[in-house]
Amino acid sequence: MATGARILITGGAGFIGSALSKHLQEKGNTVHVLDNLSFGKRELAGVVDAQFHLADIRDREVTMAVFEHVKPEQVLHLAAIHFIPYCNQHPVEAAEININGTINVLDACEKAGSVRQVFAASTAAVYPIANGAMDELHATGPMDIYGITKLATEKLVSEFHLRTGIATIIGRFFNAFGPNETNPHLIPEIQQQVLSGTRTLKLGNLDPKRDFIHTEDMSRAMAALLNSQTKGHDTFNIGRGIEYSVREIVEAFERQLGEKLTIEVDPSRVRKVERMHLLADVEKLKRTTGWEPKWGIDEGVATLLKEIR
Ligand SMILES: NC(=O)c1ccc[n+]([C@@H]2O[C@H](COP(=O)([O-])OP(=O)(O)OC[C@H]3O[C@@H](n4cnc5c(N)ncnc54)[C@H](O)[C@@H]3O)[C@@H](O)[C@H]2O)c1
Repeated sequence: MATGARILITGGAGFIGSALSKHLQEKGNTVHVLDNLSFGKRELAGVVDAQFHLADIRDREVTMAVFEHVKPEQVLHLAAIHFIPYCNQHPVEAAEININGTINVLDACEKAGSVRQVFAASTAAVYPIANGAMDELHATGPMDIYGITKLATEKLVSEFHLRTGIATIIGRFFNAFGPNETNPHLIPEIQQQVLSGTRTLKLGNLDPKRDFIHTEDMSRAMAALLNSQTKGHDTFNIGRGIEYSVREIVEAFERQLGEKLTIEVDPSRVRKVERMHLLADVEKLKRTTGWEPKWGIDEGVATLLKEIR
């Protein structure tokens, strides 16, 4: 990416957005954050007050006003709700934020007149159940409300590109891990239980495998895509290309703790519909940008445990 760009991150006070804000500022860019702090935290945005915009993307006028004021050149749209059980229980709210909110953000990008590139966060949840690694040409087939709203996001971004000619990138994020997690996902759940002093973990299904990617690696991937995809519209998986089962994640914690952990299956945490595999083929990302992941599970877990201690 050209240094010194004026960038707006929606959802920049959240888990992935905060890592991204830090990374883009380290590269010499001016970063503004728009966030309603429903899940994010003000201090995580990592920007001064003049560059933090407390706003809800469901509020069309306010969103437009922020974009008019900031006049960003590049926009990374990460604001969304994404905890799958919550979205399934609150489908209207999920659609209002992830679909209507995205319409507002895209219209604000067009109206601002300054935007030359838009990156939008999608998810591996747009894919159906499959056993092997999935590349971007794999058929979509979301299994839950969240995945449906994100597939709609993708379609809206594609339509935006056709309508405006502004360069657009879709990043299909696989399972993020790293510091400052905001939602009760697997790794922070284990981290929290271990921190509370217990060595008997209460977890849901133990066998599903997921592709865990560190938020720092994700941030480098997004920056690299902004650099390389300055025209057109394209979609990229953002994962590590390795899958780990819940048991294997627990083993990574055991290695770092140097202690044995016992697992008890808690029926209330067992999902009724569960994918056994979710693995990214990341060859397209690597080929296009030269990006390579740097963080393995063990290094990531070690840092998380050190931070807590
Ligand atoms: N964490 C993952 O493993 C993962 C996987 C796939 C995709 N994603 C996607 O990545 C993006 C970031 O996820 P995250 O893990 O950092 O989650 P997060 O909840 O930490 O971040 C989302 C941010 O958006 C903000 N937000 C929510 N609703 C908003 C609204 N109406 N107006 C303005 N701001 C709002 C929240 O306050 C939060 O700071 C999301 O689009 C999510 O769908 C995440």
